[in-house]
Parts: sequence; structure tokens; C-alpha cells
Amino acid sequence: MIPRRLLLAATGLMALIQPALAQPALASAAPPLPARATAHPAQWPAAHSPAAITAPATEARITALLKRMTLAQKIGQMIQGDISSVTPADLQRYPLGSILAGGNSGPYGNERASGAEWARLVGEYRAASAKAGAGIPILFGVDAVHGHSNLPGATIFPHNIGLGAMHDPALVQRIGAATADEIAATGIEWTFAPTLAVPQDLRWGRSYEGYAADPALVAAYGRAMVTGLQGPLRAGRPVDSTHVAATAKHYLADGGTFEGKDQGDARIGEAELVARHAQGYPAAIDAGALTVMASFSSWNGVKNHGNRSLLTDVLKGRMGFGGFVVGDWNGHGQVEGCTVTSCAASFNAGLDMAMAPDSWKGLFDTTLAQVQQGAIPMARIDDAVRRILRVKFKLGLMGAAPVLRGAPDQLGAPAHLAVAREAVAKSLVLLKNNGGLLPLKPGAKVLVAGPGADSMAMQAGGWTITWQGTDTAAADFPRGETIGRGLVDALAKAGGKATLSPDGQFTDKPDVAVVVYGEAPYAEFQGDVANLAFRPRHGEDALIARLKAQGIPVVSVFLSGRPLFAGPLLNASDAFVAAWLPGTQGAGVADVLVAGANGKPARDFAGTLPFPWPADARSPVTAPLFPAGYGLTYAHAQSVGPVNEDPRVDLSAAASDNLWFNRGVAPSPWHLGLDNAVTARSVDLAAQEDARQFTWAAPGALAIDGPPVDLTRQADEGFEVRLDWRIDALPAGPIKVSVGTGSLDVASLLRLAPQGAVTQTRIPLRCFADAGANLKEVGTPLRITAPQGFVVTLSNARVEATGSVVPCPPKG
Ligand code: BGC
Ligand code: BGC
Repeated sequence: MIPRRLLLAATGLMALIQPALAQPALASAAPPLPARATAHPAQWPAAHSPAAITAPATEARITALLKRMTLAQKIGQMIQGDISSVTPADLQRYPLGSILAGGNSGPYGNERASGAEWARLVGEYRAASAKAGAGIPILFGVDAVHGHSNLPGATIFPHNIGLGAMHDPALVQRIGAATADEIAATGIEWTFAPTLAVPQDLRWGRSYEGYAADPALVAAYGRAMVTGLQGPLRAGRPVDSTHVAATAKHYLADGGTFEGKDQGDARIGEAELVARHAQGYPAAIDAGALTVMASFSSWNGVKNHGNRSLLTDVLKGRMGFGGFVVGDWNGHGQVEGCTVTSCAASFNAGLDMAMAPDSWKGLFDTTLAQVQQGAIPMARIDDAVRRILRVKFKLGLMGAAPVLRGAPDQLGAPAHLAVAREAVAKSLVLLKNNGGLLPLKPGAKVLVAGPGADSMAMQAGGWTITWQGTDTAAADFPRGETIGRGLVDALAKAGGKATLSPDGQFTDKPDVAVVVYGEAPYAEFQGDVANLAFRPRHGEDALIARLKAQGIPVVSVFLSGRPLFAGPLLNASDAFVAAWLPGTQGAGVADVLVAGANGKPARDFAGTLPFPWPADARSPVTAPLFPAGYGLTYAHAQSVGPVNEDPRVDLSAAASDNLWFNRGVAPSPWHLGLDNAVTARSVDLAAQEDARQFTWAAPGALAIDGPPVDLTRQADEGFEVRLDWRIDALPAGPIKVSVGTGSLDVASLLRLAPQGAVTQTRIPLRCFADAGANLKEVGTPLRITAPQGFVVTLSNARVEATGSVVPCPPKG
């Protein structure tokens, strides 16, 4: 231990530290923040949590409780574990204050569990917590970010970007109330929503979680969503059984990071931080938001989880926030000098509850020791626990007669589905409608085509059932309807004839075609892109061209988490509708697109762009094709002339860290290298020249090289290397697949694969780390080393998250 005298001399801050001498020295030893990451609270908007959450009688009960609690019981309150890593029985030894179910965590290992199973699981934790520690019930949190979106039976609303297009705070409040009903129906009392990000560079994979580019709209929506979720807060009375706690997230400037990099760094001055990124918070706090989540991201190089001026001086001081600050998924571990199991600095900065999904045990033990050693002052612990207990009291969890949530009939209730359908209709933005092609006329013969026409996954996007949302199907949503089916139903009702044919085949020539296409689902950094080009990967451009060549007018319905450059497709389409990620109530699209028997659709277009629409693929957008606020209606029609088709960026340089080989080529910045033993030729696997066949004439290797990339995050999150290939000849001996410096022999795995047919090989990234790869700096993401006689046809090599559990290849 360093003598206190030396420490004080070393900091040179004698005068400042002197008054706090009663506190152990270590608590004050945190290095001061750099000036560029230190906020000046007086320059920030003032706010105040409602007095209803700090009623004197409740505060007195908390004071009494704090006196009774042991230090371990207090530390427990400050830590949250995930259902995948904590069992109810664990709470006996580790009396944690909260449990979450992360995006890939379903009850009892089932992503598609019913509402009743969720309620049962929550009840088990709750009962265990009441018997453990100080007998304080756990808080249970979940990402109900567009409806109770982890549950197939729930109402899945449009993602926030679509709500932004509605410009309708009153409807957002109704959505909040309906969502709260459904969350509460499953016995849960806390959601990690709303996101108050103000996305600036839409290359950010989380852009769709933000409402809009306009801070004032984000503030109005923050207020509305918090009010809808939590209901009115009344002094001395708990939130009722149909409402839940909200989370304003991610504090702060998650949408302002450099180049739109997820978890990146907002390199901006304080004035911009306040004016652009902070506006949602005072609104949400004044509305009573019970929790705020710290952002993974940094402000000028300092991680927000460790920024005391932002978490304490601004949020709890200037903005008068009386609830508690929860961390993001192991976010404390990213603070300088911290690990996921040790981070006094974050608690000292003002974090009240760490989200430690799988690291809770280590974090608990370390934090306990740190408090005992004086590295975290007792006053800080008591403040954090007081805030957490305050929220538990407000939610009615404490005391002899707790508020009981769980009215199963509310899940997917017809009234909620109707709200969602209304939101879908109001979120549509009409970019082009030349010749008044829309609405589809009663009696028309319509072809409904495209990869998104009957795809629940595409229309619901990420954060749906699973974290990435990639593996959902229409069958998962008994109360939902795809856009295509909604159109077919509505057209039939209007006396028309519609055919749903995703691949665009038809026998009877249609009067008009509606082609639904767009982005595939993604969440968080998995959705970060290098530019704003939409890439048709399913031949939708060819399909539209084919229809047009036959004289069939085309309506494009574009599904995406952000505005994207799609110039050629806009020009090829007669009408173009931005539908965002509308969720499961696809019928809302038909309400606007299809005219009823009376010649009029149920609704006109009402949505306008929440973000500017790019004229090319460059980001951030400086000269938009359509500005924010643009949107045509039937009442105000207008013809749109040809638009720019040049992306103005090198699309081949557009690869992500996760895509190493794509349809037979290494996309830039990757290079394919072969040593003399290996030859290559282009071949067709599923389509024209979509693969390369490699033949080993002698022992040798092929390698994909590029600038060093950091793959640790992907490895931590369970991502896999996925190879789409056909094994044409498999000689005896080891076949080594390497990522960086970690090599694995996959020969025995390949022997099980069907020879001569396309197969998918999946190897978790962490297996390569276990084999010695330094995933922090990978310059050669893929190398395949094989003996003479190996012949393989490789189509794609990528890193991907499926959420399924894949073992490492067997050794030897
Ligand atoms: C996300 C949060 C989310 C949390 C829990 C994090 O990775 O950033 O938005 O609430 O996980 O799933
Ligand atoms: C979890 C998400 C979480 C993410 C963090 C996933 O494994 O399921 O809830 O947000 O990791 O990056």
C-alpha cells in the first residue's frame, strides 16, 4: 500500500483533498479527467426528477434499511447479472440487486418462451431474492425496445426510426403504454428503453434505435415514451401493475461517435454535446424516468462509464436525476484501468448498478474488497443503494404487499395490435409517386414480389426474439402478418387480384408490381457500415429491371434501418416508399397503399423523413437528396425526376471487419494471396462466378490479408467464422484454418461434411483465441493451409453471430 503522504504529494492536490481526509486516500486517487472531457454543469440544461420519487416517508424507510444492510448486501444491489449466467440459487451467496435477460437470453434457454414461462422465471428470481441477503426483491430488466420484442406472442411495433417519421408524440405515448402493459403481463417491471440517441452519421448500426436527427423531437418523444411506460408518478403511491420503469439511454452522445462507429468516441465540444445530444435527458428526467443507462461510447477519449463530470456533476447534479444509473453490457470493463470484474473507477464516477451479465461474481468479490480497502467511499455505496431502493419502492416491489404484475391476456392484445398497425401506417414515407401509381386501384391485378415481401425477419429487424433478429420467421408471430400478405388480403377485399411471389415469377401478367426489399436484420456494431450504399444482394435490381422491361410499373417498398443511397432503384421505380423496420403488423402498409372499393385508401401518407436521405453513399450527408421533413402525400402529389446514380465512393472498399470473402472475391481492404502451391479459378456455385475453386498441387496456403482489425468484441459476443464452401477433394492430413496466429485443424470436421455439395462450416472466434490468436490485432483474418490434393470451392468467409452454441472443432 502506498503511504498516504506520498499519494497526496504525488497528486499535488493537497488543498483539494484535505477536507475529505476522513475518507481513505485511495478514493481520491483517481486521475483527473482531461479538460476536453470535463463538463461544466452550469452550461447544461437544468432538470429535476419529480418529487414523487423522493417522498420523505420512503426516504426514511430507505435510511432505516441502509442501517440494517451489510456491506455485501449493499454491493449486491449494485450488480446485475444475466439469466444465462445467474441461477435463482446463486442469489443465496450473491444477493444481486437485479437480473436482466439480454438479447440472446431466453427463459430456460428458450428464445421463444411464452409469456407464462417468462413470468415463471421472473417469479423464481424474485422469490429467491426475497429469501436471500437483506430480503430485497430483484429488479428484472429486459430490452423491450419496440414492443416486448423478445416474445413471439407480443405486439412488435416499428423500430424507433419509423416512430420518428410519424412526428406524433401522442401516439408514441400510447405505444409506451401498450408496451408497458405487455411487459407487465410477463411479470417484468423494467425496460431498457427509450433510446434517446441523436444519430449523426448513419453508418452507425444503431441508427434505427434513434428517433430522429432533430433533438427537439427526440426530447418530445423521450417525455412521451417515459410517460407511456411509467404512467403518472404520484407521491406516496407505487407505479401501478400495468406500468414499468423506463431507461433513458445511452447517456451520452452514443449517436455522435466519430464515423458512426458503435461504442466509439464523440469528438465534439461541450456546446455541441449539450445542444445536439443531451436534449432528450432533461425531458425524460422531468417526466420521471427512473433509470438512465450509461453509454459504451466515449466523449473525447474518455469512456462515459468512467466520466464523473457527466454521470455525477451533470446528470445527478445539474439535471437533478434522482433515479439510478445502470451500466451497459460489461461497459464498465472498458474504462481505462478496469476489467469486467474490477472497476472502482466506474462506481466512483457515478455508476450505481453495473450490468455484469457474466462477470457478476468476480465483480461482486472485487468490489467488496475495494470498498473494504477504501477504494470506493462508503458514502458512494450508500448513495447508489439508496437510488436503487428508491426505484424498487416506486415500482411497488418492496414491503408486505408488493404490486403484482402479470396479466397474461395483455400480451398481443387486439387493442395493442391496432396501435401498432396505426403506427406502421403513419411511419411510411412516400419518396416518389410518379403518375399517381399509388394507391393501388380497386380491382387491380398486382404482383407482390421481392425478398422482403414475406419476410418477418426483414420487416422486424434486430432486437426481435434474438439480439440480431436474423432468424425469425412468420410462423414465430401468430399475431403478425407480413407486408406481402397484408397487401394480398387488402387487395382481395378491394376486389382485385394479388399474387404473392417473392422471386417475382408470375403466369398472369400483372397491372403493377410491388417489390419489397431492403436491409437484412442487424443489431449494434454488426450493423456498422463503411458507406451509405444499399447493396441489392438478392437480385432485386434485376427483378425490377425485368418487370420494367415487360412494361409493368413498379412500386418499391424499402425496408431499412436508415436512409440509404439507392439512386438506381429510385430511378427504376415509379413509386418508392420508405417503410423502415415496421415490425409485425404488416397490414398497416396496405392501409395506405391499397384503395378500397370506394377508390380511397384507409389512410393517406403521414410520415416525413426523420433524417435526410442521401444523394450518394457518402456519410455524413451534407447535401441530401431529400431533406429531413420531406414526404409526399396523395393530397400533395409531385413528380420526382431522375436522381443521381453515382455512389461517389469506391464501393469495393466497403467491406466491414466481418466480411473477408464475398461471392468469390476478397472485398477491399482484403487481399487474397496464394503461394505457389495453390491455384485458383472462378466458378459458379449458386450463381454466375460466385465462388473460387482452389487446388493444392503441393502443401501450401491461401491467405486473406489486410490492415489489422480488432476482433475481440466479436469473440466475446460469441461470433463465429462462417465459411460457405464445397469440399471437392479431401486428402489425408491436417487442413488448418487460421485466424491471425491461431490455427485449428478442421480435417475431421470436414470429413463429416457432405463432399461435393455446398456446406457451411462454423467455428467460434474464441476457439482461435484459445489456439493462440491475438484477436486485438488480426492482419490475416483467414489462412487455409493444406496438403497436396486439397480442392475446395470457397464462396464466402465472414464473421457472424447466430446466437447458437457451436463447439470448437475436435482436436487432432
Ligand atoms: C446494449 C443495450 C442493451 C443491453 C442489454 C447492450 O449491448 O447496448 O442497449 O440494453 O445490451 O441487452
Ligand atoms: C446480448 C445482448 C447484448 C449484446 C452486447 C449479446 O450477447 O444478448 O443483449 O446487448 O450481447 O453486445
